[in-house]
Formats: sequence, C-alpha cells, structure tokens
Amino acid sequence: MRYPKECILKECEEATIRPLEKSDEKLLRRFYEQTSEADRWYLRSDVSDPHFIEKRLQSIDSGTAASIVGICHGAIIGIGTLFQRTFGATRHIGQFRIIVLPAYRQKRLGTWLLLDLIQLSMDKGLEALRTDLVVDVEDPAIEAVTKFDFFKEATLQNYVKDPAGNYHDLVIMIKRLHRGWSDY
Ligand SMILES: CC(C)(COP(=O)(O)OP(=O)(O)OC[C@H]1O[C@@H](n2cnc3c(N)ncnc32)[C@H](O)[C@@H]1OP(=O)(O)O)[C@@H](O)C(=O)NCCC(=O)NCCS
Repeated sequence: MRYPKECILKECEEATIRPLEKSDEKLLRRFYEQTSEADRWYLRSDVSDPHFIEKRLQSIDSGTAASIVGICHGAIIGIGTLFQRTFGATRHIGQFRIIVLPAYRQKRLGTWLLLDLIQLSMDKGLEALRTDLVVDVEDPAIEAVTKFDFFKEATLQNYVKDPAGNYHDLVIMIKRLHRGWSDY
C-alpha cells in the first residue's frame, strides 16, 4: 500500500494515514495521554507503563504488532494495531484494536484505519481477522465491523468487568480473509 495516504474525514477535515514509525515516540505518548481512562481500561496493554511506548516501537521490527496511525494537524488522532503471533497454531490469525480520539469519532477515521488493517492482513497472508469487543461498551465498534463482514463467532457471557465492577459479555468477532478484494 502506498503511504502516506490522504483521507478526507466528515466535514472535509483532512487527515493522513501512514504506518507508525520509530521516530513517533513523542506523538504516540501525546496520543495515549489524551485517551480517557475508560478507553484505556479495555486495551491489551497498560499504556501508562513508562516502557510501553518503547516496547511498542520495538515491536515494529519484531513483526508482532503493526500500527497504522491517523494524523491531523501534526498529531496522532487515531491508531489501529494488528497483532500477530510469529509462531504456532494461531499465526494465521490476526487480532486488532482501533482507538480514535473522541473529538475525531464518527468522522470515518475508524473506517479508514479498519480498511487498511484488513488490507495489511491480506498482504501478510493472514487467513482471518479477530477482534474481541465488549457488549454495551464497544457497541459502535461491533456495528462498524459488522458492516465489513465480521460475524459473531462466540459470546463469552459476563466475562469482562468495567471499571465500576459491572460484568459485560465479550463477543469474538471474526472475518475470513481472501487473497485479494476481487475474491469476494
Ligand atoms: C470504535 C471506534 C474506533 C470507531 O471510530 P470512528 O472513527 O468513530 O468510526 P467511523 O466514523 O468510521 O464509524 C464507522 C461506523 O461505526 C459505527 N459507529 C461509530 N460510532 C458510532 C456510535 N457512536 N454509535 C453507533 N455507531 C457508531 C457506525 O456504524 C459507523 O458507520 P456510519 O458512519 O456509516 O454510520 C471509536 O468509536 C473508538 O475509538 N472507540 C473507543 C475504542 C473502541 O471501542 N475500540 C474498538 C476496538 S476495535
């Protein structure tokens, strides 16, 4: 895929999409500082860990996590990350998370990032994409991925606790991948 890629968000705001780079340390730190505690609660890693940014940037080389960022006015406003095992029984499956700063939500950035993560997964030869989403909390994401042919593979009932201690179902959403868009 050719990067950087210009994209127009709703209300004609321009953004750029490109892979995360090792030189993005400050931008990445600033991005996570702006995320809410509520959003951070459901991430795969503790982004408040002082070593998190360093580890994430190192993972660019290891091939275990590939991130695509949305940039507007010189700041990261959204990030989508594809996680992949480099060995064993599930190395053909990718998992991903997307997070967009609240001020930029519902402007299509999440969709742009999702499309690129799907393309990246196909380029890597992955056979399926998985995302685990929390019912009641991440309903917008469930709706968004359903539009891209993800289906509910399983529901783990009362599996997740929110910060207030309430239980929620976790849905495992899967999308089967083909070699190219023309195979659909
Ligand atoms: C989920 C998230 C990434 C979506 O990003 P976004 O940039 O707002 O998404 P988009 O504007 O591209 O919206 C895509 C679709 O999502 C759905 N959607 C987004 N926000 C929604 C909302 N508040 N309510 C209902 N549906 C919503 C809609 O189906 C929308 O399609 P439409 O514009 O054709 O109606 C963003 O809300 C977010 O960061 N949430 C917190 C973290 C999270 O839940 N991550 C999901 C893990 S993968």
